[in-house]
Amino acid sequence: MTEGKIGVFDSGIGGLTVLKEIIKHLPYEDIIYFGDGKRTPYGGKSKETIELFALQSMKFLTQKGAKAVVIACNTVSSNAMDVINANYSLPVIGVISTTAELAFSESKNKKIGVIGTKATVESRSYEKALKALDTSITVFQKSCPLFVPLAEEGIEWWDDEITEMVAKRYFNSFSNTDIDTLILGCTHYPLLKEVIRRTIGKGVNLVDSALITASQTKEILGKMKLLKTQKAKGSLEVFTSDSIERFMPLCTAILGINNINIQKCDVGE
Ligand code: DGL
Repeated sequence: MTEGKIGVFDSGIGGLTVLKEIIKHLPYEDIIYFGDGKRTPYGGKSKETIELFALQSMKFLTQKGAKAVVIACNTVSSNAMDVINANYSLPVIGVISTTAELAFSESKNKKIGVIGTKATVESRSYEKALKALDTSITVFQKSCPLFVPLAEEGIEWWDDEITEMVAKRYFNSFSNTDIDTLILGCTHYPLLKEVIRRTIGKGVNLVDSALITASQTKEILGKMKLLKTQKAKGSLEVFTSDSIERFMPLCTAILGINNINIQKCDVGE
């Protein structure tokens, strides 16, 4: 089925960082993005709730004609891949293992930090994926829940002294760890990259999911012969479960595209 759309799903605006790269890598594909702004943040919720939200979002995207779905959200990728794969047979691409592989390949001293939501950190998904590559890797995890509302609050918070104070407090846990690589294990965190880079220090390499997930999506769908054969510019539909007015400026800023077709939807009860 080369027809059909590529669905991209996140708890909010963060997945737009992944969407941006997918559009660049797959310009001829029709893409549908869903950001669950109404129920964000997912990161402090239970596994059961995250699974339920994930299944509802999958239902929405498949009903809208998705031939494959990219789970841009680290929290969902960490907690709901099993239940998604048990209920859907279409290709579903998560972000954890490829991002872990990238971090592993870039780390020299094999001391790797991971920041993510509480639900991602508690799942130990990155730790497991890294240890599966090499048991001698040392992984230091820290959940940074305040980063998500700061990113969602608007562009003026992304590189701000308050955000930096929050980062300093969180990153205290990495002092004396000697990490040379830090996985930004949440789609929202690349938006705060400047603050994160300044606070963690220039010697630490930052790894995020966006680029590697986009190139993996292209590779997987290419191998499965699911990519469009016609070379005509693909369409983009963006859905939010919350206010379009709130979503629009963030979407425009992240994607760098004007006049995006944003629609409101309700995927849950
Ligand atoms: N964007 C999500 C992620 O990548 C988390 C944000 C949230 O807590 O909803 O983990």
